Amino acid sequence: MEIISKEMEKFERTLIESTESGVPFIENAARYVLEAGGKRIRPALVILSSRLLGYRGKRSLWYATVIELIHTATLLHDDVLDNAKVRRGRPSVNSLFGNEPSVLLGDFFYSKAVEIMGRDGDSELIRIVSRATTEIAKGEILEIIRTGDLGLKEEEYFEIIGKKTAALFSAACEIGAVLAKKGKKERSKLKEFGEKIGFAFQLTDDALDYLSTDLKLGKKVGTDLKEKKVTLPLIHTLKKASKKEREIIGEIFKKDRIGSRDFLKVKDLIERKGGFEYTYKVAKRFVEEGVKSMEGIPKSPYRESLLRLALSIIERKN
Ligand code: FPP
Ligand code: MG
Repeated sequence: MEIISKEMEKFERTLIESTESGVPFIENAARYVLEAGGKRIRPALVILSSRLLGYRGKRSLWYATVIELIHTATLLHDDVLDNAKVRRGRPSVNSLFGNEPSVLLGDFFYSKAVEIMGRDGDSELIRIVSRATTEIAKGEILEIIRTGDLGLKEEEYFEIIGKKTAALFSAACEIGAVLAKKGKKERSKLKEFGEKIGFAFQLTDDALDYLSTDLKLGKKVGTDLKEKKVTLPLIHTLKKASKKEREIIGEIFKKDRIGSRDFLKVKDLIERKGGFEYTYKVAKRFVEEGVKSMEGIPKSPYRESLLRLALSIIERKN
């Protein structure tokens, strides 16, 4: 992302400024979450996509901010739902201040994003972003009602991650094309690129939830299993497992509290059944499809940078 480092610096400033509110709690808590870093993949996608297609103005900074505010809002809400204690390497807002402030800060971020879009006044972009947030909410609801359900099918899992994660990646890239005033062809290419790498991102995230370490990940490893969230590594394992092995997992899922011994047992079984390998294979396929959807877009350093970003998604360790 070297190529947009100046823009990314400006984006960071715009992001912090957007949380100015005259309410010290909001400003302090906002700085606390936003300055903890985060990979900034989504705002980079907005900026790179718009630059790729020839846009040079300031609106990409505003929409990068919109997307990062929405993303952070979803994390503030998600950490309440997942009862997460750590985020971006720091105690989560819910664990520091409680669930209510975390949800409300999320609402503030989301409303700010809408306010910025309203000020810009582009109904097409409002439509793209609001569709994505509706999808996110649908994805989260689908996920939560299937919590603890070992019968979750692969297609259902893909529907969930398509909505909760890929939709925002897709919107980020499509925004770039709209800012550059490009036609249907470029728009759908960028939209598809974003969607594919969004899938790859969540698949990697779900593998890392078992494989990484707290320190590398900046959040607690094993949260999905603890919260009885069924993700692709486990779905694949259940498919390959013997009746006896399925029963063992079933027993673990009946427990009120899944501990670290259970975690290691499940992780070991996933490993033996090739669940991680499979998840990475699927993620890689998504990245390849994403790269393919960029065919026909003229070669440029921005295109290179987007393709490199796509590849880095499946190589990430946090
Ligand atoms: C992270 O997933 C969470 C999401 C991708 C979406 C969360 C969305 C909501 C809670 C709905 C709120 C909606 C709006 C519009 C504010 P994860 O739990 O798999 O990832 P993690 O390991 O980083 O927590
Ligand atoms: Mg979570």
